[in-house]
Amino acid sequence: MCFFTTAHSSKIMAAEIKVLFCVGKSAFTEKIHGMGNVDPVLQYVANNSLREHPVLTKLRLRTLEDQWSTMMVASDQAQLMANLIRLINATKAIEIGMYTGYNALNMALAMPESGRVIACEIESTYIDIAKPFFKEVRTAQDTHTTPQFDELIAAGEAGTFDFVFIDADKFNYDRYYEKSLELIRKGGIIAIDNVLWNGKVVNPAPSDLTSQGLDALNKKLHKDQRIELSMLTVGDGLTIAIKR
Ligand SMILES: C[S@@+](CC[C@H](N)C(=O)[O-])C[C@H]1O[C@@H](n2cnc3c(N)ncnc32)[C@H](O)[C@@H]1O
Repeated sequence: MCFFTTAHSSKIMAAEIKVLFCVGKSAFTEKIHGMGNVDPVLQYVANNSLREHPVLTKLRLRTLEDQWSTMMVASDQAQLMANLIRLINATKAIEIGMYTGYNALNMALAMPESGRVIACEIESTYIDIAKPFFKEVRTAQDTHTTPQFDELIAAGEAGTFDFVFIDADKFNYDRYYEKSLELIRKGGIIAIDNVLWNGKVVNPAPSDLTSQGLDALNKKLHKDQRIELSMLTVGDGLTIAIKR
């Protein structure tokens, strides 16, 4: 399912952030999430840098009630991506793997009102959680199931997107990356989540095809002359690929 959203300007409630955030652990790096475990350094980062839109706060707290809430993007990572969107004046973005919509909404809020976010999610229960929060800020909506790369390319939208966030089924990451590279413009950004996969990419077990696949993609991107590259240890590992 894809939401086409239009962003509205955000108001920041910095005073509340110190109360609302706590820091949870992801297995490799720490993840600022609100799961309850407190790492003092990351708590400091949360307290002194996070500027979460009130609707995002509500969505994050609702998502934490879900049994799979560890899938939610870390708040500091989302804020970094929002700032990248602002930096490159992005107005068209795709998210592959929306879950309950925290980052899709985060991206929409970082764009002007004419902005467009296509957020793809296969599980309808997650979309149902996201919908009321999207409704609070969106003015337009359309829905699909999985990423419609070929339809977008056929519709003449190759080279027109500014930002893609890849955060869905890991086996398809390479395909998502190649299609995203077609869809984004020069200077556009592809952000890829979970590239450290709990640290297992360092020495993938012979039976661990997911870690092997992510490791292969990491190594491919390292040599890929079509992009500028950074691999960050934020969250579970975030690759930033900028199209040359
Ligand atoms: C890690 S979560 C995404 C977290 C989300 N980006 C956020 O901001 O919190 C991955 C999501 O991808 C979804 N997913 C898996 N395969 C997919 C596919 N082929 N197309 C669309 N969504 C998919 C899963 O159902 C899951 O909700």
